[in-house]
Amino acid sequence: MIPEAADRAGDVGMIIPAAGLGERMGGSLRKPFIELEGEPILFRTCRRLASVPGVFEIVVALHPDDLDFFRDRLWDRALASGVTLAVAGGACRAESVWNALQVMSARAELTAVHDAVRPFAAVDTVKALIALARRRGAAVPVSPMDDTIKRIEGDRVTETPRRLGLVRVQTPQVFRSDLLIEAYEYAIRTGGLSANITDDAQLVEALGAEVAALHGGAFNLKITSASDLRLARALLAAGLAQ
Ligand code: CTP
Ligand code: MG
Repeated sequence: MIPEAADRAGDVGMIIPAAGLGERMGGSLRKPFIELEGEPILFRTCRRLASVPGVFEIVVALHPDDLDFFRDRLWDRALASGVTLAVAGGACRAESVWNALQVMSARAELTAVHDAVRPFAAVDTVKALIALARRRGAAVPVSPMDDTIKRIEGDRVTETPRRLGLVRVQTPQVFRSDLLIEAYEYAIRTGGLSANITDDAQLVEALGAEVAALHGGAFNLKITSASDLRLARALLAAGLAQ
């Protein structure tokens, strides 16, 4: 059983954006509520993150249409998974994160942002990211880019960027809270928040602040499409993820 927020030690607040439409997954049930071995993906993710030392608060941003259902029908399960607060998300991921940032408690010296649809983040990796962000201000998990990357327009290849130095970036991304808030305020003042903002670190980079990277592990899968869901179930069945 996970203790209530007020009783948890630590200074790391966690934001879980879970308000997306899940268009690439399709189906009627929104992605965070699809079950993996009987547990909604969202709760599996929260339970994992709540077990990381230092995390005392978990704010989830939900699609506005899911809020009532969540509070009425799922709140007990949410609490048992470590969720401390649910807020309405926005029209894009960055808006959802920003809405959650507004309600983070002042005790959160560090803020981590983690996609609801990444249930397999390794606790040791999250601990390492928290330690790195404490020293450097911002830290993100990355994995190697083994494929060659191309840009296409329609079915025509237009460019092959050099692969050297390219990585994929995952979540959780961990920041000093004041830095993350400054980055969001700057983004809102300059271009506004839009779907072009696909992670949080890019807003910190836009301030000119340093973002440190470390290896996030091969199994920190992001469940985006139906094939990822099959892969997630296969990883669980094979004991390669928990
Ligand atoms: N997200 C969010 N608010 C939005 C859009 C996305 O909180 N307005 C969240 C999603 O719920 C997900 C994470 O951001 O946990 C990563 O987004 P993605 O994998 O793109 O999920 P969806 O936006 O739901 O999927 P799609 O883009 O296929 O519609
Ligand atoms: Mg999306």
